[in-house]
Amino acid sequence: MKIFIDTANIDAIRDAAELGIIDGVTTNPSLMSREGLPFQELVEEICRIVDGPISVEVTATEHAAMVVEARRIAKMHPNIVVKLPTTRDGVRACKELSVKGVRVNMTLVFSPAQALLVAKAGAAYVSPFIGRLDDISHTGMQLVEDIVQIYDNYDFPTEVLVASVRHPVHVVEAALVGADVATLPPKVIDQLFKHPLTDIGLERFLADWRSTGQRI
Ligand code: E4P
Repeated sequence: MKIFIDTANIDAIRDAAELGIIDGVTTNPSLMSREGLPFQELVEEICRIVDGPISVEVTATEHAAMVVEARRIAKMHPNIVVKLPTTRDGVRACKELSVKGVRVNMTLVFSPAQALLVAKAGAAYVSPFIGRLDDISHTGMQLVEDIVQIYDNYDFPTEVLVASVRHPVHVVEAALVGADVATLPPKVIDQLFKHPLTDIGLERFLADWRSTGQRI
C-alpha cells in the first residue's frame, strides 16, 4: 500500500519525505488555507520536495469553471493530480479531463455508488473519507471494503485512496482490505512508529551494552 501525506505544511512534508516512506501528497483547500502562503508558491514547493503524485483541489463548483481551474493546476507540475469534489459537475469534469490525459482524484466520496460513478468517469483515484463517516456513527472502513470489491469485480483501474484517516488502526485496516493508498496526517505517520515494547526493548539493549564499557 502506498502512503501519502495529508497536509500542505512544508516542514511536515519535508520531515516525512526524509523518512523515505512517502509516495505522494494530498492537499485540500482547508489544509492550504492554514499555511498562509500564496497558492502557486506552496504547490511548487511541495512538488520540489516529493517526487510522486501531488493532489491539488479546485475550488470552482460549476463544470466548465472546474475544468479551467483543473487545467491551470495540472500545468504547474507533471506530478500534479487534480482533485475534484464528487458532485454531478465534478464527475462530468472528471470524464472530460481524464480522456484528455489529466489525472483526477475524486474527493469527498461517502458511498459505493459515488465510487462507481467516478471509476466510470476515468478517475485515477477515488478518495473515500472514512474518519468523517466514523464521526457520524457509520463504519468508514466498510465503504473502503465495498469500493475495493466493486473495482475488483469490474477491473476498474481507479486506485482506492483512503482519506480522512484518524489513527493507525485505520491504516492497518486499509492495508488489510486491499486499499491502494492511504493518505495520513503527519500525526498518524508519527503514531505508526510507536510501540512501548520497542522503547522498553531498546532501553534494555542499550543498558546491557553500556555495562560492557565497549564502543562500536
Ligand atoms: C484528503 O484527501 C482529504 O482531504 C483529507 O483526508 C480529509 O481529512 P479530514 O476529514 O481529517 O479533514
